[in-house]
Amino acid sequence: MPGPTTTATPTAEPEPTSASAFDIDSASSLQVLVNKRRPLQPPEYRPALVAVSSAQEGGERVRPEVDAALAAMSAAMRAEIGEGTFVFSSYRSFERQGELYRGYVARYGQAEADTTSARPGHSEHQTGLAIDVSGTGGQCRLATCFGDTAAGRWLAANAWQHGFVVRYPQGLEHITGYEWEPWHLRYVGVEVSTAMREGGVATLEEFFGTGAAPDYG
Ligand code: DAL
Ligand code: ZN
Repeated sequence: MPGPTTTATPTAEPEPTSASAFDIDSASSLQVLVNKRRPLQPPEYRPALVAVSSAQEGGERVRPEVDAALAAMSAAMRAEIGEGTFVFSSYRSFERQGELYRGYVARYGQAEADTTSARPGHSEHQTGLAIDVSGTGGQCRLATCFGDTAAGRWLAANAWQHGFVVRYPQGLEHITGYEWEPWHLRYVGVEVSTAMREGGVATLEEFFGTGAAPDYG
């Protein structure tokens, strides 16, 4: 006597996230890849923005998706280490980025400025998807020692859970074009940040397979 027939249920394996599924070219895409070899198109793109609703300097603005993720991340960080995020820079216009870049060139010369400040048209800050943060305690603002603070360590370990990546990691200037910036977070969405974390991939250039962007070419 045959046993009861069983219907084979295919095992629901989650599809691995494919980097090619994302739009890295459109200025409005949450996954747009901007670096020294990939200018924002158009260079003077202006996103729709909202005010940063968590702790910030004053007048800081980001894309709405970024604000929502940032608020959740800041709350989670505060619950775990007793301080949240403090945003001291976020969206910058083409003009503002140009002013900042020219200021760095005047102070340090162009070669050094290019290791730390993007030329206008090439900054993630123009997308509304990048934020520069410290902890609400304010230690090591805009300095690499931020990476060794409780806030910097928490963000390096946990920002991916909220869709952010530390965009310019330590020792990868030859790929990203910039020295270590433990304070500069880029929102890419949780699908990408999780896939990068799971794959041990630290840069967007490697994840999206575009090749390195050490200079303006
Ligand atoms: N500091 C980063 C690279 C920027 O200027 O966009
Ligand atoms: Zn930044």
